[in-house]
Amino acid sequence: MNASELALHEGVVAEAGAARGRESDGLVESPLPSDMLQPWEVWSQDLFDLEMIRVFGRSWVWLGDTEDLVKPGDFITGKIGTQSVLIVKQRDGSVKGFLNNCRHRASGVAFDPAGNCGKAFACPYHAWTYGLDGKLLSIPDKERMYGPDFPMQSYGLVPIRVHIAFDKLVFACLSHKAPSFEEWIAPLLPRYEAYKIGNYHRYHRELDETFPMNWKVFVENSNDDYHVRFVHRRLNKVRKQMDTIVRFEGRTTSGYKPHSESFDFSLGRTDLDEDDLRGSYAEFIYPNLTPLPYASQLIMVRADPIAPDKTRLVSRIYGLTEDIELQERELVNLELTNKEDTDMVTVLMENLRSPFYRVGPSSTWEGRARHMMRQIREDVATPLAPDEFAGPID
Ligand code: FES
Ligand SMILES: [Fe+2]
Repeated sequence: MNASELALHEGVVAEAGAARGRESDGLVESPLPSDMLQPWEVWSQDLFDLEMIRVFGRSWVWLGDTEDLVKPGDFITGKIGTQSVLIVKQRDGSVKGFLNNCRHRASGVAFDPAGNCGKAFACPYHAWTYGLDGKLLSIPDKERMYGPDFPMQSYGLVPIRVHIAFDKLVFACLSHKAPSFEEWIAPLLPRYEAYKIGNYHRYHRELDETFPMNWKVFVENSNDDYHVRFVHRRLNKVRKQMDTIVRFEGRTTSGYKPHSESFDFSLGRTDLDEDDLRGSYAEFIYPNLTPLPYASQLIMVRADPIAPDKTRLVSRIYGLTEDIELQERELVNLELTNKEDTDMVTVLMENLRSPFYRVGPSSTWEGRARHMMRQIREDVATPLAPDEFAGPID
């Protein structure tokens, strides 16, 4: 960590620590300790900036799927925290990832969420061009602009790690040192492999909306199994015993709800455990992905942080049905569920502006949320390694 990073970190920690003992303390009595999100963690720009480095710099983030990566030159763009990234299908069938930044100035080299670049990416600003493999191919008027010795090989697009999961889902990671994707999601991996997500197809549209909330408020909500029966009352009729089994380990969490006999999402599948056919999982893959897997579909909701009080939610559904009307019903249903959450969360967000308020303790069914808040704080307190971005990517 360099001196300015150290000062920033100490400033953030001091601010968070001082908040408990500062002059606004005392109006709200909170005798029980709480690891849940506190006001000073949602409005700090310094903390947000540090999260972009220490949380998103070392995490696997879901970007899209292979349905957009079929022919050479096909690409998808996305964000890892506030960093733009680009994933490109190569001529040999493999897939490579890069920072979506021209090496000359900070322009992107691809702008659509998905598309095909042809033979190369040409930056729109001064027309430097890059091959599908990221190599800098040409600089217009190179001799006149830079003389004879410009080190072309040092100015290719910056490569990042990519993992294609389950023959379908594209994840990427900036860190060269973070664990493999399989280790990242180890507690979920065997069941996710059994779903055969590669057989699912992306539904005909996605949901994409930006909300005035901090990304961690949404993470807390996504990992809260306690609110479900109150905020999403529509769903109660399919549930059995109003029970939830809460699990968390490492970078993943899982809340399992058994369902009544009439609830059947299996679409005739019998190749999964009975629990997985009857019941539903609400899960989380650190730092910003909420997957809800079923025997016949997979719902994915990603929270992309934009600013301390601004977060974009992108949701897709993948499933076995090709019936557009059925897809549309599921999408409308998801829209409704998301709205129930974001309406609630934006109320919380507004009230967390208060410097006087202190949140209460977590319940048993908020164990996943508590775990994730702790994980985020642990990462924020841990600088990236000096060689975090050194060495080859796998
Ligand atoms: S910013 Fe890309 S060529 Fe100048
Ligand atoms: Fe919810």
